[in-house]
Amino acid sequence: MTHVLALDQGTTSSRALLFDLQGRIQAQAQQPFEQHFPQPGWVEHDPEAIWATQLDTARQALAGRRPADVAAIGLTNQRETVVLWERASGKALTRAIVWQDRRTAAACQALREAGHLDFVRQHTGLTLDPYFSATKIAWWLQQHPDWRARAERGELAVGTVDSWLLWRLTEGRVHATDVTNASRTLLMNLHSGAWDEELLRLFGIPRALLPEIRPSAADYGHTSLLGGSIAIGGVAGDQQAALFGQGCTQPGQAKNTYGTGCFLLMHTGERALPSEHGLLTTRAAQTGAQPQFALEGSVFMGGAVVQWLRDGLKMFASSAEVETLARSVPDSGGVIVVPAFTGLGAPYWNAEARGAILGLTRGSGQAQIARAALESIAFQSADVLEAMVKDASAAGIALSELRVDGGASANDLLMQWQADLLGVPVWRPAVVESTAYGAAALAAAQAGVTLAPASSAGRRFEPQMARAQAAERMAAWHAAVNRVL
Ligand code: G3P
Repeated sequence: MTHVLALDQGTTSSRALLFDLQGRIQAQAQQPFEQHFPQPGWVEHDPEAIWATQLDTARQALAGRRPADVAAIGLTNQRETVVLWERASGKALTRAIVWQDRRTAAACQALREAGHLDFVRQHTGLTLDPYFSATKIAWWLQQHPDWRARAERGELAVGTVDSWLLWRLTEGRVHATDVTNASRTLLMNLHSGAWDEELLRLFGIPRALLPEIRPSAADYGHTSLLGGSIAIGGVAGDQQAALFGQGCTQPGQAKNTYGTGCFLLMHTGERALPSEHGLLTTRAAQTGAQPQFALEGSVFMGGAVVQWLRDGLKMFASSAEVETLARSVPDSGGVIVVPAFTGLGAPYWNAEARGAILGLTRGSGQAQIARAALESIAFQSADVLEAMVKDASAAGIALSELRVDGGASANDLLMQWQADLLGVPVWRPAVVESTAYGAAALAAAQAGVTLAPASSAGRRFEPQMARAQAAERMAAWHAAVNRVL
């Protein structure tokens, strides 16, 4: 047993990474798949495309290896996205509804107006938003009364993407999910870790549709589709897998993934902390009997701001060029970009807000705007972190450092700015494959093999700015945000 295979099923591509027991990546494969936008605000994936690309990349990553050398498979996935399939044939009835899909906004609003928000928050740690799975499943059953009847008869199965892949990998033998994925559905009781009868009633979802909930490191069966029998030992939603992969398993340890958006999670140990500042309470990866919890907040426009400079404003051809352009000036010259292109997330939660560029003078040019756009990623992350710190410190938990990963974490200017604003060190590991590594580490734990830490090499960005100056910059940012709210 010399390797662990991680399958990372993301929103835009499926990936497979083969780790050796020293935690080094020995092989990897990636395949994008089509995004479907049938109506404004709707986002769908073809479950067969998810499966085909995932199986293919797994086979590619294992090419030339003996399955007997693979100790276990760890699976991590885009969260909240749901698939509905027929148990007998294993065929999906329709396309997956993706986490970004907003079709159930009115249904969520109606539930809020009916006064269910507090109950839902207390039972799930989440909020009533189309982002989560429950209203997506309910939408299918409302549209298709025949599916509801079949669901009640136990003929159909539903699951987040991990469940769908598990079903296919085990050829229909396992219908399961892990606590982190289940904690994103609005159907699991955050505290008990079981499907909640009251929530199932509220959303009108038959229990017979749902998978069994297991810890993140657990026996998820075997697959025989990769050339021999390999155990599946780890499952976690991608953000929780990254938290685990970054080694954040103690209260106060936090990570930020700088992707298209930014996902910030802080581990809070064995305590579920309710947020007073617009964050979510969620499950962190669980390897033993004790439930683990985290606070989560997301920034909608992270690396997407740089894509907008590149594709919308045509400032440069490749995203990596943003750093050179931003560094060509000492500061943004008072320019502030508020990238509220799709509203603002935590802690503002304002869907109507729209973007703005403020503080323009005759001296403002591309470089100042690029620098301000980059700074906006750090400002928004600092807002979420600040909310987290407030929630956590009320429970006596302090933030010690922020660990970072994801594409835009490669940008040194952004990372330094992040450390300066936060006043805590920012740690970037040399290998930023935290999500896949986290899934592999969960599977290794279940298989009883020791997977070495990914790498202790990396770069630490120490805060250099005086706190008073950082506070001034944050105040200027908040003044700008207030102009768009
Ligand atoms: O909550 C959605 C998140 O899990 C999606 O992550 O990396 O596939 O965009 P990603």
